[in-house]
Amino acid sequence: MKTIYQTDFSGIDGLALAEIARPIVPVNGILIKMTMLPVVPSDWKRELDPHATAEAAAKLPRTIGIGGVGRVVEVGEQQDQALMNRRVLIMNPKGSYSEYVVMTQREFVFPLPDAVSDEQAAALTAGPGTALTLVQAIHERAVNNVVITGANSVIGLVLLQQLSDFSGHIWPIVSSASQAYFRQQRPTDVCYTVTSLPVLTETTVVIDLAGSEELLQRLRTWMPAVPVISIALTESDVIDNLTFVHEEFNAAGYRQFICQIAAHELVIPVDRQFLFTQVKEAQRYAKMSHSRGRVLVTLTSKETIND
Ligand SMILES: NC(=O)c1ccc[n+]([C@@H]2O[C@H](COP(=O)([O-])OP(=O)(O)OC[C@H]3O[C@@H](n4cnc5c(N)ncnc54)[C@H](OP(=O)(O)O)[C@@H]3O)[C@@H](O)[C@H]2O)c1
Repeated sequence: MKTIYQTDFSGIDGLALAEIARPIVPVNGILIKMTMLPVVPSDWKRELDPHATAEAAAKLPRTIGIGGVGRVVEVGEQQDQALMNRRVLIMNPKGSYSEYVVMTQREFVFPLPDAVSDEQAAALTAGPGTALTLVQAIHERAVNNVVITGANSVIGLVLLQQLSDFSGHIWPIVSSASQAYFRQQRPTDVCYTVTSLPVLTETTVVIDLAGSEELLQRLRTWMPAVPVISIALTESDVIDNLTFVHEEFNAAGYRQFICQIAAHELVIPVDRQFLFTQVKEAQRYAKMSHSRGRVLVTLTSKETIND
C-alpha cells in the first residue's frame, strides 16, 4: 500500500511516496481504508524540527499525519464488531497518511453519522480539541475581556462558536488581509487589527493563536501587563507572562463535536482539496496562504507523488 513518508528534516521537500506492506490486523485491531486527510500546521512544523513534538517524530522515515477519515474494512476478533463497514474519524499521531491504517485503541476511533461529511470530520483533526482547552482556560481566568489573535484561523473560528455563552467581551484580532473572510464567516462579530483595538481597562487575557511575537509585542504596548495564553508559542524571550497550552485528548469532546456538526450547531471551516499525490502542493498552499479553512487531501489509489 502507499504511504507518505517524511524522510528527513528538510521540510516539505523531504516528503516521499513509499510502497509498504499493508498492516496485519491483530486480534484487537481495526483496519481503516483512508479517504480524507487534513493538512495541519503541525505537519510542516514536524517536517522541519526533530524536537517539534513527542510521538517519536525524530525516528525517520515516518508516515506523516495525525488523523483523518476512512471506512472500517476489517475488525480483529477481540475488537468492537459493530465498527465493521462504519465510516470513522481516527486520531493517530503515529501516522495517518497511508491507504490503510490499523488502530488498536477503540477510544481514538469515532463512528460518523450520515449527517457529518468526510470533509467536516477530517477537519476536526488537530485543532478543534484545542479550542476546548482554551474555553476552559478562559473560564478559569474569569476575565471581562478576551482578545484573540488569529481569530480567523480554523481553531479561532471553532473557539468563537464554543464561546457563544461567554458573558464577557470578545475582541477578535484579524489581519487586514483576512478581515473580509472573517466577516463572511462571522457576520455579526466585529473584528479588529492591533491598531484599531480600543484600550481595554477591565481584566483581560490574550488568547494567542497566531504565534507572532511581533504582534504580541505590539499588543503589549497597549496592554503592558496582560497575560498571554498561546497555543502556538511554547516559549518566548520577548513576551513575558506567557503560558503555552496544548490539547489534552478528550474523546468525549470529539463525540460532542460530531453531534454538534450533525445538528448544524458547529461548522468547521474547510478550504481546498488536493489529491494524495499532491501532498507537497497541499502543504505548500496551506503554509503560504492566509487561513481560509482547513486544507484537505483525498485518497485515491494508483498515484505517484508530485514534486
Ligand atoms: N497547542 C496545541 O495543542 C495546538 C494544536 C493544534 C494547533 N496548534 C497551533 O495553533 C495555531 C493555529 O492553528 P490553525 O490550524 O487554526 O491555523 P490556521 O488556520 O493556519 O491559522 C493560522 C492563523 O495565524 C495567523 N498568523 C500566522 N502568522 C501570523 C503573523 N506573522 N502575524 C499575524 N497573524 C499570523 C493567520 O492569519 P492570516 O490567515 O490572516 O494569515 C491565521 O489567523 C498553529 O500555530 C498550530 O500549530 C496548537
